[in-house]
Amino acid sequence: MDTSNRTNCIVFHENCTAALGNGNLSSKIDLSFLDPPFNQDKAYNAWDDNLPPEKYWEWMREICAKVYASTSDGGAIYFMQREKNTEFVLQCLRDTGWTFQNLIIWKKKTSAVPGTKRFGKHYQVIAFATRGKTPRVFHRLRIDPPLPPGYKHARENGMFVTDVWDDIRELTSGYFAGDEALRDADGNRLHKQQAPIQLLLRIILSSTNPGDVVLDPFAGSGTTLVVAEQLGRKSIGIELDLQNVALIKRRLAEQRESDDVSRFFKDYVCTPDLEAIWGKKTTPMGKPTSSTSSTSKLSTLFETNLQ
Ligand SMILES: C[S@@+](CC[C@H](N)C(=O)[O-])C[C@H]1O[C@@H](n2cnc3c(N)ncnc32)[C@H](O)[C@@H]1O
Repeated sequence: MDTSNRTNCIVFHENCTAALGNGNLSSKIDLSFLDPPFNQDKAYNAWDDNLPPEKYWEWMREICAKVYASTSDGGAIYFMQREKNTEFVLQCLRDTGWTFQNLIIWKKKTSAVPGTKRFGKHYQVIAFATRGKTPRVFHRLRIDPPLPPGYKHARENGMFVTDVWDDIRELTSGYFAGDEALRDADGNRLHKQQAPIQLLLRIILSSTNPGDVVLDPFAGSGTTLVVAEQLGRKSIGIELDLQNVALIKRRLAEQRESDDVSRFFKDYVCTPDLEAIWGKKTTPMGKPTSSTSSTSKLSTLFETNLQ
């Protein structure tokens, strides 16, 4: 275990409910990304994904409250959920003190989940909220997606990112998942809920500066940490499943080409001050240092970096 104060990524093998409650993260987190199990009876190794709904939302409320208590003034939370749960997500955030900023529609570049008695489902929601009314950091990123059919004139300088994100592909189970999906020797996915690096890239670039601290209490395969590291942000991941903890450590150490965010720099090139927002130029991938620990060691690990 590397306990030097150069550590930029810390991975805790713990239940985040307990880890977030021990006071060690107090006021230090600048951005959190919440991608919890969605309580839809998915096969997780270490978690019952079929809780009674009241219990599940009580738990989500507890997590949001604990993250809020650990967040710096103006710090941000991005809480991802299925669209059918939107009202519960917003309620959860409101009940725990967060100030609503946006409901982001992540319209995945995949086919819709068909419905026979309702419209097919084509998006997931990400609620963006802050601790206090004014975000401590918000970078207005500019992108330049292909012009919609019928538009004659190319944009001169791209356009601001809006609350509809339709340019980021989900890592589905089929071939579309591509090289980015982590797989075993037989080609099986190692974490079926692995989020795309492009999603975390947009969130981290929008709501943090280099040197800020990013938290992922449901770290999964470590997407948040892998992106944060390349952008010169510090990161803390909490994950209950030991196999996933091992996966995160390996992923950080391996620095796979498919995890390299530098290829997306060009997508944001119309953004003023992009180099400063991006932090470090990420070609080739930065060299992360990672450590697994218990939260009681947090103050030692981040001793100087979290000041
Ligand atoms: C939807 S996945 C997150 C995927 C992640 N965003 C990624 O890109 O890989 C949720 C993760 O939360 C973990 N988990 C479930 N309950 C937990 C808890 N109480 N504390 C910490 N992690 C938990 C699961 O093992 C799973 O890996």
